[in-house]
Amino acid sequence: QERMKGFGKDSEFRAKRVHVIGAGVMGGDIAAWCALRGLTVTLQDQTLERIAPALKRAQTLFEKRLREPLKVRAAFDRLIPDPQGDGVAHADVVIEAIFENVEAKHALFRSLEPRLKQGAVVATNTSSLRLEDLRTVLANPGRLVGIHFFNPVAMMPLVEVVEAEGADPAAAQAACAFVKQIDKLPLPVKSAPGFLVNAVLAPYMLAAMRAVDDGVAPETVDEAMLAFGMPMGPIELVDTVGLDIAMAAGKQLAGGADAPRCLIACVEKNQLGKKSGQGFYDWSSGKAAKGS
Ligand code: NAI
Repeated sequence: QERMKGFGKDSEFRAKRVHVIGAGVMGGDIAAWCALRGLTVTLQDQTLERIAPALKRAQTLFEKRLREPLKVRAAFDRLIPDPQGDGVAHADVVIEAIFENVEAKHALFRSLEPRLKQGAVVATNTSSLRLEDLRTVLANPGRLVGIHFFNPVAMMPLVEVVEAEGADPAAAQAACAFVKQIDKLPLPVKSAPGFLVNAVLAPYMLAAMRAVDDGVAPETVDEAMLAFGMPMGPIELVDTVGLDIAMAAGKQLAGGADAPRCLIACVEKNQLGKKSGQGFYDWSSGKAAKGS
C-alpha cells in the first residue's frame, strides 16, 4: 500500500472526466480502466465501429472485477463512445493514444487545443516519440505531459509520467495525482528515449530476438527466462507489445543496429503478435500456441 503512493509530488488535482482519443489496444483499455475506477470517460476514435471492440473488452473487465450486475452496468454507463470528440470540452484529463506517428499526432493536437478546458491535463501515451517534437504545434507547449501506460493496462500498476524539457512542472504533478487517483503507481521520468522502462526492456527483447536469429527456438528463449524468474518470456512479451511497436521502439533504442531478421520477417507478413492473431506464436485461440 505504501508503495502505491508512487514517487510523484502531491498535488490537489482531482479529475472527474477523462477523454481518451484512440480506442485501440491502449486507448480502449485506458478508458475502461478509468471508468472502472469511477471516472466518467468519453472514448473517441474515427468511427463507432473502431470503438466497439474496446467496449466489448471493457464489459469483460467490468464483469471480472466488479461482479455485481448493477456495478457493471454503472461502470459501462460511465464509458461513453464519442466519435466526434464532444467530451474534450468537459474533460479534466485528455489522453491521446492514436497511431505512433508525429504528423497524425500534430494534426490531432492542433484541432484539440482550442477546445480544451482551462487547467485540463493534456497527455500523450506515446512510447517512443519525443514530447519536445510532439508539442511544437501547441500554443501552450508547456502543458503537454506523457502519461505512459503499459500493456495490458489492467494488469500493470506502473505508469510513467513524462516531463519534457522546460515543461510546466504543475502539469506533471497533476498527471501524477491523476495516476494515483486511478490506483496506479506514477513514476516521474524525464523525456529520454524509452523513458526508463523501455530503455531497459528494449535491449532485453532485442537480444532475445537475436538469439532466435541465431537458431534458438522462441519457446526455448522464453522458457529460459521464465526459469530465470521473469514473469513472462521476452518473445511472448514482444508478441504482447506488438511487433510493429517493437520494431519502431527497437529502431530508436538499438543505437543504429539492424532490427533482428526474425522481427523483420514477421512484420513483412503482417504478423504483428497477439493483436493480429499471429506473431512469433499463434494467438488464434486467444493463448500462445507454443511448439516444442
Ligand atoms: P492501435 O493501433 O491499437 O490504436 C490506435 C487507434 O487510434 C486506432 O483505433 C485508430 O483508429 C485510432 N486513431 C488514429 N488516428 C486517430 C485520430 N486522428 N483520431 C481518433 N482516433 C485515431 O495503437 P496502440 O498500440 O493502442 O498505441 C497507441 C499509442 O499508445 C501509441 O502512441 C503507442 O506508442 C502507445 N503505446 C502502445 C503500447 C502497446 O503496447 N501497444 C504501450 C504503451 C504505449
